[in-house]
Amino acid sequence: MIVQTINLTKRYGKLVALNNLHLNIEEGECFGYIGPNGAGKTTTIRILATLLQPTWGEARVCGHVVGYESRKIRPLIGYVPDFFGAYEDMVVQEYLEFFAAAYDITGKKRAQIVGDVLELTDLTYKRDALVDSLSRGMKQRLSIARVLLHDPRLLLLDEPASGLDPRARIEIRELLKELHRMGKTILISSHILPELADLCTSIGILEQGELVFQGSVREAVRRARLGTTVHVTTPDDPERARQVLAALPNVVDVQLNDGALLVSLSQETTDFSFIAAALLAGKLRIHEIKQEEVNLETAFMRLTKGIVQ
Ligand SMILES: Nc1ncnc2c1ncn2[C@@H]1O[C@H](COP(=O)(O)OP(=O)(O)OP(=O)(O)O)[C@@H](O)[C@H]1O
Ligand SMILES: [Mg+2]
Repeated sequence: MIVQTINLTKRYGKLVALNNLHLNIEEGECFGYIGPNGAGKTTTIRILATLLQPTWGEARVCGHVVGYESRKIRPLIGYVPDFFGAYEDMVVQEYLEFFAAAYDITGKKRAQIVGDVLELTDLTYKRDALVDSLSRGMKQRLSIARVLLHDPRLLLLDEPASGLDPRARIEIRELLKELHRMGKTILISSHILPELADLCTSIGILEQGELVFQGSVREAVRRARLGTTVHVTTPDDPERARQVLAALPNVVDVQLNDGALLVSLSQETTDFSFIAAALLAGKLRIHEIKQEEVNLETAFMRLTKGIVQ
């Protein structure tokens, strides 16, 4: 287990930011840490990055306890905070050399490693540009480049895609996929679930300092699905189709929406071939019949509203 927290609790005065958190992340995972503003994501990440002490409970990174063995943890992690400081009059290459020196990487090795991370983050062409002149997306890639210099095992990324345009988001996502393929364990926070869906191997949903869900993306969707919805279109009279379908057992509700029928099935029903049979028996032709995709955003809202146990 590369990250393990046991009853992790953090208070700021009276405010309980994290409440008895049990978080487990295995080596090689890409873990999406999702929660609305103020949920406690940054607090958790800063504790794992050894920058903040728990009030109660324990956080372990690669088996080392935060607060007691922080010096052993620091070389193993790469932390990208949710803000980027100002670095006036420093060009990209100098910036990376500066941080490499801080990690005791010297001489030829330093030049080699700086060249490698520039290449990996697609910033080689910007090596002589002033850091402050970079776009937000480039700065974010540079922040990631900086934490790769010492080849850490665990990357802690606090909302790396926030404030980026769609293209820059995709670039960051591709970079993170590449790092994951290279064997890095990644913890990435976001308040948007869909953004992480195709990147992450598992997710945790945090709300007011408590984990309301931990598991795979698929499991989150499955848990949030309160029953299947089937989308049906017919070239014949949709109102008559609606009446035929509404009379069937296992059908909870039928809505007519823009000429299409949205058929909600009871929770235990997964096979919907009976819908086609009933329509054909009623001499109604079928244009299209398909299961509605469960939108990840909907899944997230349902999971965080406590509708799903
Ligand atoms: N230094 C601090 N002093 C007092 N309260 C704090 C401090 N840092 C965070 N908090 C509070 O702790 C709670 C959790 O904050 P945190 O920044 O961890 O949430 P977050 O999930 O990262 O939110 P966001 O999505 O806005 O970044 C919030 O209510 C916040 O106001
Ligand atoms: Mg935060």
